[in-house]
Order: sequence, then C-alpha cells, then structure tokens
Amino acid sequence: MGEPVVEVRGVWKVFEGHEVLRGVSLTLPRGTTLAVMGPSGQGKTVLLRLIAGLIRPDAGEIRLFGHRIDHLREEQMLPFRRRTGFVFQTAALFDSLSVFENVAYPLREHTGLGEEEIADRVQTFLSLVGLTETEELLPAELSGGMRKRVGIARALVLEPEVVFFDEPTAGLDPTNARLVAELIAQLRTGVCDTAIVVTHDSEFAGIAADQMAILHEGQFVATGSPAEIHRSTNAAVHAFLTGELRGS
Ligand SMILES: Nc1ncnc2c1ncn2[C@@H]1O[C@H](COP(=O)(O)OP(=O)(O)OP(=O)(O)O)[C@@H](O)[C@H]1O
Ligand SMILES: [Mg+2]
Repeated sequence: MGEPVVEVRGVWKVFEGHEVLRGVSLTLPRGTTLAVMGPSGQGKTVLLRLIAGLIRPDAGEIRLFGHRIDHLREEQMLPFRRRTGFVFQTAALFDSLSVFENVAYPLREHTGLGEEEIADRVQTFLSLVGLTETEELLPAELSGGMRKRVGIARALVLEPEVVFFDEPTAGLDPTNARLVAELIAQLRTGVCDTAIVVTHDSEFAGIAADQMAILHEGQFVATGSPAEIHRSTNAAVHAFLTGELRGS
C-alpha cells in the first residue's frame, strides 16, 4: 500500500449542539480511491471540507501528506491547497468569469506561469473533460453536466496529488452522469490516482472506488472493498444500499 495521503483520527464536528461527526477515522493510502457514502445530511460534505482544511474539527486530528492541518491558519494551508483538488457539490464556478478564466484561476493563484503556458494547460484540461470550444462561455450558458466538468477541470489543473469530489454525478441526467463517472474512473490511470468521492451512486462507487465507507449517524458503520460492503450484515448499510435510507 502507498503511504497515507489523508489520515483522519477521531474527528468530531458539532454545529449548534448538533453532533454531525462523532469520532470519524479513516486512512487514504496513495493510489486509492475511497467512496464515502451515506444518507443525506449525515455529514459527508462536512467531512470532505474538514479534510480539505476548509473548516476545522472540534476534536480529533487531520493529516494531509503526513502533516497536521486541522489547526493551520489560511495562509499556512496554501501549500496544501496547491497539492489538493476540490470538486464542490454545486460546481461553485465564478459566475462572472468565462470557462477559460475559471479553469485558469488556480494557476494564477498558485503559480507564476506565463499566459502562454496558462492557455496551454487550460486547453489540456478542458479537452480532458471533453469541453473544447467552450472557453469564452460564461457558466450560465452551460448545462449542469458541463458546469460539473468545468469544476473538475479546475480541480485538476494544478495536477494535485489527491482530489476530493463531492457528489460529482448528482443532479445529472444518466448520460452526463455516466460521462462524469467514466472521466473520474479514467483519471486514476493518468492525472491523479488518489481520491475521495462522496456519492449516493453505489453503481458508480463500485466502478470508480477500491474502498467504500458508509457514514451513518456521525460514524463509519462499515468500511472495505465494494464487495465487502455489499456483503455487510450491518442494518444501516443494508438499508442504505437497498435505497431505504438513500436520502436526496
Ligand atoms: N456551516 C454549517 N452550519 C451549521 N450546520 C451545518 C453547517 N454545515 C453543515 N451543517 C449541518 O451538518 C449536517 C450535515 O451536512 P452535510 O452537508 O455534511 O450533509 P451531507 O451528508 O453532505 O448531505 P447531502 O447528501 O444532502 O449532501 C446537516 O445537518 C447540516 O445542516
Ligand atoms: Mg453533501
């Protein structure tokens, strides 16, 4: 197994007295894609934001690349931001910026690359997600699936060592969902081989992930390979996989 890229130890997160995460732990070795699944409102997005250093835990430890990040100030997080990519649940594009400028944004923030190199990289990553000839469009002029793919190109443009995907296929029609799922599965052999994918889509998780973890009532109730998870006898896991606890 590769060295740990992400380590989460006993993490708690409480919002206004509501214990969203109650002692969550996980280890993500390099070269692994982990699917985090669970019903709506269970704290999947909160967990991803904690791991990416966008919010802080109330207790517990979070390490990226072997370094504690849970107590860092924003400017201390910058070197870690450069090595990680985040695909938000809502694509979270800048509405007033063109597709080109959205994807170029991390390059302008984190590198001293010249315009020519930036244009090259933006084109490379837009073509990777199947979006050539959209560079001058604004996000409002794109379909939902296209916006998701722009968000993925933006998350990948710095060639991060790990990518965090929050519901990359949710809200897409079946064709676009498959396109995005195939793209994510394909990334493993190219741009980035280590990822956490939050998803409701167990078929996609079975294809794209080698590990699955099911979040229920603030804790992981099962972790293992997709085959192991499907054999789980845990009632919450069974209910989730059969759709009774699917949520949104
Ligand atoms: N900034 C915040 N302030 C207060 N409560 C929050 C905040 N962020 C998340 N929560 C609460 O934490 C809980 C978990 O939210 P989260 O968005 O992580 O769920 P989720 O598992 O991602 O759900 P979904 O599958 O619908 O995306 C919810 O009850 C939510 O209201
Ligand atoms: Mg969420």
